[in-house]
Amino acid sequence: MSEPSLYGAAAAAMAADAICAHAGSVTPVAGIILGSGLGGLAQRIENAVAIPFAQVPGFPTATVVGHAGKLIVGALAGRPVVALAGRFHMYEGHDARLAGFPVRVLHALGARTLFVSNAAGGIRRTFRAGDLMLIRDHLNLMFRNPLIGTLEPGDVRFPDMSGPYDPQLAEALRQHASSLGIALQEGVYGGLLGPAYETPAEVRMLDMLGADAVGMSTVPEVIVARAIGMRVAGISCITNMACGISMHPLSHAEVLETTTRVASQFEQLVETFVAAL
Ligand code: HPA
Repeated sequence: MSEPSLYGAAAAAMAADAICAHAGSVTPVAGIILGSGLGGLAQRIENAVAIPFAQVPGFPTATVVGHAGKLIVGALAGRPVVALAGRFHMYEGHDARLAGFPVRVLHALGARTLFVSNAAGGIRRTFRAGDLMLIRDHLNLMFRNPLIGTLEPGDVRFPDMSGPYDPQLAEALRQHASSLGIALQEGVYGGLLGPAYETPAEVRMLDMLGADAVGMSTVPEVIVARAIGMRVAGISCITNMACGISMHPLSHAEVLETTTRVASQFEQLVETFVAAL
């Protein structure tokens, strides 16, 4: 028998066992990944059991400011969820397989719906810092793929990517946003490796390629989710206008400042979404 591969299905099953040993057995209606500065949602989770990433087999410790690095098991709007406050970025030196690994763990815990969120720079001129953007599609400009390597049991080798973000879940998010009085933008998320922010020339290129927002995460997670048959919904928090569109230098502090400003809208939207799942 061949060795089980790193960050594959067997490793995810082991991580899920360790999580259940801490938190009891759970069948989440959704797995939620909270982007930079958006971890405040964790406070709305009731009966929460928080497990530091360091205690999850296969997880390295999160290193980015604004990312708590915790997995939280509990109830949101009365529904069982598992949330990750923090994620693994390729700019930290991680392999694409590790960037997608938490999704395998959420799936091993029983989640069949994945909600992803991130901080992103706005490219479309009509966007403003503080907007929430429904992710309609993405561009994988990381030029890495988390599925490269041995085919994992349960994976589709060549997953269809014609609808990576589930249209029905997207429609639900539109309706929830509208009933909450939250203006929801929509667009294509361009995923780059980072960690340097883009140059103005790169932002012009991304604009021509069809990206409405740009960030450094999410894409590997969504690819893994589609390969294992999970439905995906996603929201970007437009924390700043991208370089060259905004004329002032960009900083991670600004990104976190904006997420703090819109955290409550974001949290209400996710909570309402989960309540209706
Ligand atoms: N570019 C890339 N990633 C980001 C940005 C940006 O402008 N803002 C927040 N994350």
